[in-house]
Amino acid sequence: MRPTMKNIVILISGRGSNMQAVVEAAIPGARIAAVLSNRPDAAGLAWAAEQGIPTAALNHRDYPDRAAFDQAMMQLIDGYAPDLVLLAGFMRILTSEFCARYAGRLINIHPSLLPAFPGLHTHQRALDEGCRVAGCTIHFVTAELDNGPIIAQGVVPVLDGDNADALAARVLAVEHRLLPQAVADFVAGRLHIEGKRVRNQRPAAAAEPLLA
Ligand code: GRF
Repeated sequence: MRPTMKNIVILISGRGSNMQAVVEAAIPGARIAAVLSNRPDAAGLAWAAEQGIPTAALNHRDYPDRAAFDQAMMQLIDGYAPDLVLLAGFMRILTSEFCARYAGRLINIHPSLLPAFPGLHTHQRALDEGCRVAGCTIHFVTAELDNGPIIAQGVVPVLDGDNADALAARVLAVEHRLLPQAVADFVAGRLHIEGKRVRNQRPAAAAEPLLA
């Protein structure tokens, strides 16, 4: 018997390199149902379309407020019957209605070691604070910004002479490794939310090296 495929809808706002990493991973049991954006000119949309993936954009500037945009986005997303909505560089703050609708099947990647540095400019802020390590976090999304149960984190060193761009590039390489793995874990049903914590049934998950 063929296992049922899980539909993944990926939301992006720009380059889409994390989305690309997930697509190229060709995760067993996962179908990339659509790549959607709030920016019609997002470079990642063109790349996804070239791969034959359905794409669409809703320009947030066409909507009177955040609630109206999120309503329209939910309608668009729901047309693809998503099992997972993946925020991969989607630069929008979401309404609580949006978060509630996809609770337990909404995952975000954030370029810091949460709970440190939620929000924007994470790499510069890590440098300004003199952090010796930085990294990324993949987490389930709740209504509170960048604060949901953590699925995975990747750590990189901060090197002498780093600027925000150099640090961002080092972190991004880890994002590209970690995100497809987290999606594969979700698709395989290995992730279990237990309060604030996520239990991962993949045996190697607990023993993964922290420093990349
Ligand atoms: C990534 O660093 C992601 O963590 C952050 O924005 C960046 C998006 O990059 N939210 P890309 O669009 O995936 O290339």
